[in-house]
Amino acid sequence: MDIKSKLEELQAKFEEAIKNVSTSADLMNLKSSYLGKRGSLNDVLSKMKDMTPQERQVVGPAAQKVKEFLNKEITQTSSKIERAEIETKLAKNRIDFSYTDKVRHDRLTSGGLHPVTQVRREIEDIFLSMGFEVLDGPHIEDEFHNFEALNIPKNHPARDMQDTFWLEGAKHLLRTHTSSVQVHGMKERSAPFRFIAPGKVFRAERTDASHEMVFHQLEGMLVDKDVSISNLIYFMKTVLKEIFKKDVEVRLRPGFFPFVEPGFELDIRCLICSGKGCSVCKKVGWVELLPCGMIHPNVLKAGGINPDEYNGFAFGLGLDRLVMMRYAIDDIRHIHGSDLRFLEQFKKY
Ligand code: FA5
Repeated sequence: MDIKSKLEELQAKFEEAIKNVSTSADLMNLKSSYLGKRGSLNDVLSKMKDMTPQERQVVGPAAQKVKEFLNKEITQTSSKIERAEIETKLAKNRIDFSYTDKVRHDRLTSGGLHPVTQVRREIEDIFLSMGFEVLDGPHIEDEFHNFEALNIPKNHPARDMQDTFWLEGAKHLLRTHTSSVQVHGMKERSAPFRFIAPGKVFRAERTDASHEMVFHQLEGMLVDKDVSISNLIYFMKTVLKEIFKKDVEVRLRPGFFPFVEPGFELDIRCLICSGKGCSVCKKVGWVELLPCGMIHPNVLKAGGINPDEYNGFAFGLGLDRLVMMRYAIDDIRHIHGSDLRFLEQFKKY
């Protein structure tokens, strides 16, 4: 048999063999038995050394063609097998999301709103009833909205008060507080206005009973003519009374935030230990809950508002801590732990 016929026979045998291959391992074996160093193709080609140059000129391209055909078939079969293997795997690991009686009886579908969501919605209702709008803001912010427009220029020591997660290039960051929405809110409307902006904030903090790295705040801003500190205190007390459904003991002390002047810390008597001292209030009997103050004129200017005509107040409520006080939760980490034994206690639709 001449070499050309041998090549044709080899190709025909290969075509027959590859039809029966169904796994990657079998395909690898087939490949090496035909195209490997000691494979059938090399075996046939080894005879070329005894040929005349004229014969080689004919057999060479024919052999190359067979080689290309084998390679193409192997590649195509390989991707077919790979796809089939993935589909088998997926079929085996399929999760059935369909609503069945079994799921219903196992109570897996009877979820409820997270306690933070429940309290947030309640507070939103309270503020809506007082004429506030509810705004949303981006989690990824630029330096201007998170710091500069809030009277915290580059290299200002107040930036160190909030350990920041910077994104690559250090131009953007995960917002450290909801105060960044103040700037968006001011720019998008003209005075007078009032709004709140609840949402997640992010800080590179070491966690403990009252500190998380991802937590919730609820920002508030009211801008109008002749707003006074008494207005601020009235609003804050009213909101807390509505939330706790009773008069709660609060105290106001000076607090420094570059975006308010004067600034205050509004603390609430710890409801976990009734002020006796525990791990949540760090044994002082009071919990820092609601920093607030009169909006700094520079912030109003950054938002396009004339500070000689308008003034106002702003506050930043710590939502997780409020939830802790409301339900006497002694560790903030329960709130974010996704433990169903904890969450089921708040089930409500
Ligand atoms: C601020 O973030 C200011 N932007 C608040 C503000 C707004 C002041 C407007 C004045 C005017 P502060 O860093 O203190 O402030 O955080 C506000 C509240 O968030 C705290 O009182 C506390 O209740 C809560 N909080 C702060 N850090 C954490 C944390 N790591 N885990 C859980 N809650 C926290």
